[in-house]
Amino acid sequence: MNVLLDAATIQNRVRELAGEIERDYPEGEEIHLVCVLKGGFMFMADLVRGMGPRVSLDFIAVSSYAKSTTTSGEVRMLKDLDSGLQGRHIIIVEDIVDTGLTLTYLQEILRARSPKTLRTACLLSKPSRRQVEVNVEYIGFTIEDRFVVGYGLDYAEQYRNLPYIAVLDAT
Ligand code: IMP
Ligand code: MG
Repeated sequence: MNVLLDAATIQNRVRELAGEIERDYPEGEEIHLVCVLKGGFMFMADLVRGMGPRVSLDFIAVSSYAKSTTTSGEVRMLKDLDSGLQGRHIIIVEDIVDTGLTLTYLQEILRARSPKTLRTACLLSKPSRRQVEVNVEYIGFTIEDRFVVGYGLDYAEQYRNLPYIAVLDAT
């Protein structure tokens, strides 16, 4: 496996994003982060540690219809949020935006719950793979079309625990 982004590089960038997010919202107002499981868990954990006490968080789990040959991007909800979003500042926290289908669908679902604002933070973006245009306000790193693992991202549920991002061999 080739290391693409080492742990220190990721830590620095995530800390930077946390600061940027803090500055973008009116002082004292709650910022509610919605982590997309499982891939977003490590990014979320580091992001919130770089933020102040007004941050709150929740988790959502979805799965794409693996066998679907269509590109509807429709996802199945595996775990819904614990609390409502109405009138709150919401940031979706995802590991990676690839085709953009998953995020487009998630944004639709969450926007329907009437948040005050809805933004998205992704650690990684592979713009060359995009099938639909999707707004992502906070991006950690833009990468080429390689299959990557680590820092939350998996290959067949493996490698999520790596503190760095690596390119899987044979991709
Ligand atoms: P999409 O943007 O709807 O195509 O899907 C994004 C999801 O696909 C991510 O949340 C990941 O779970 C998965 N994914 C896409 N690219 C990679 C990768 O390089 N490594 C691991 N998972 C990936
Ligand atoms: Mg994911």
